[in-house]
Amino acid sequence: MSGPAEIADGANGDTCVVYDIGELVVGPSEDDAGETPLEIFEDAAFAAIDGEVVAVGSSEDVTREYPSENAETAVDADGRAVVPGFVDPHTHAVFAGDRSDEFEAKLRGKEYQEILAEGGGILRTVRATREASDEELLENLTGHLETMLAHGTTTVEVKSGYGLETETELRQLEAIDRADAAQPVDLVATFMGAHAVPENRETDAYVDDVIEEQLPAVAEQGVAEFCDVFCEEGVFDVAQSRRVLEAGLEHGLTPKVHAEEFVRLGGAGLAADLQAASADHLLHANEDDVAALCEAGVVPVLLPGTAFGLGEAYADARAFLEAGAPVALATDFNPNCHSRSMEFTQTLGAVEMGMTPAEALLASTRNAALALGLENGTGTLREGAPADAVVLEAPSFAHLAYRFDTTAVDAVLKAGEVVIE
Ligand code: NIG
Ligand code: FE
Repeated sequence: MSGPAEIADGANGDTCVVYDIGELVVGPSEDDAGETPLEIFEDAAFAAIDGEVVAVGSSEDVTREYPSENAETAVDADGRAVVPGFVDPHTHAVFAGDRSDEFEAKLRGKEYQEILAEGGGILRTVRATREASDEELLENLTGHLETMLAHGTTTVEVKSGYGLETETELRQLEAIDRADAAQPVDLVATFMGAHAVPENRETDAYVDDVIEEQLPAVAEQGVAEFCDVFCEEGVFDVAQSRRVLEAGLEHGLTPKVHAEEFVRLGGAGLAADLQAASADHLLHANEDDVAALCEAGVVPVLLPGTAFGLGEAYADARAFLEAGAPVALATDFNPNCHSRSMEFTQTLGAVEMGMTPAEALLASTRNAALALGLENGTGTLREGAPADAVVLEAPSFAHLAYRFDTTAVDAVLKAGEVVIE
């Protein structure tokens, strides 16, 4: 194929048509026995009005009903593949400071938790984030979102957790809210005051602070939808994590858990018990955890970039897939895992965790949206869903996992508008 997809602006209200799509990934297949977990149309098109998909079908049928010359936005995909915009359901993207020197220390054998215990790692980012101005936090975040969007991500979950006191936690959430309004990527905010224990604090007393001071202020601010906790040896144990998440529930925040990352502590069982939206990391989850999460309908969010960056063994994606779980993938973008690309995340899912390219794409779209409780079709291009789509510079979605050099993204649409071309 030659040249980039042709994009034209027409003149008829808020109609968008993407046509002459060689391979259109619409969403999960409804045929459980099928060979691929994806529903795919060939020679296809979709149309959207006011940012919402209204028609999906053959290019001929859709353009007959919605002629491209009448559409405000018309994209000639020229035989390329089009997929739903990626959803990144786990990031810590609002922070200040730089920890690239810790990367080198880790390469020389220093452990992640050793760095944290010495006041580095998360605690170092906390110091830098507390010192940063509101504008600096917003600027840092929007810069990262720009990169994510250029790599096809149209919805991102962002956690607080680098304040560890009320004021900075609220400032982080405020930055997420302002960034949501200021640029095209849709943001979902998670409060994570229980991300680490601040220096010179005792864990139970800090948990009291999170529950009694931070959570009421966060609920009043009204930005966060989820409450997350780092349930990990040396950080918050299961009982402490439960206290935080149950208090979050009382304030209307849905639980999420950083579970079984470095050791198997019981975070997955807790997530199942509380019917959390997701349990994330799961590197050390065992068969019982897989069964418990499946039974409770908790989405397992796997973060292969973290294992890659730390040189750890990966989560057992196949165990979750074979149990029928809606496995999701996320970047975990944070100063310890400098990955903003859901494309590279899919590559890692395939190469390192044995996922098929189709499973990795489903995990990066619809299943990732499920981890955020998004019921409006986000992560699909079905009728009624937001018209968030990625036009690839490739004939098939398989190029997303297959390529690991530069991006396979040619153009990105958010709510029916071309935002990257
Ligand atoms: O999900 N594991 C805990 N939290 C983050 C890391 C945050 C950091 O190191 O700054 C994670 O990997
Ligand atoms: Fe995380």
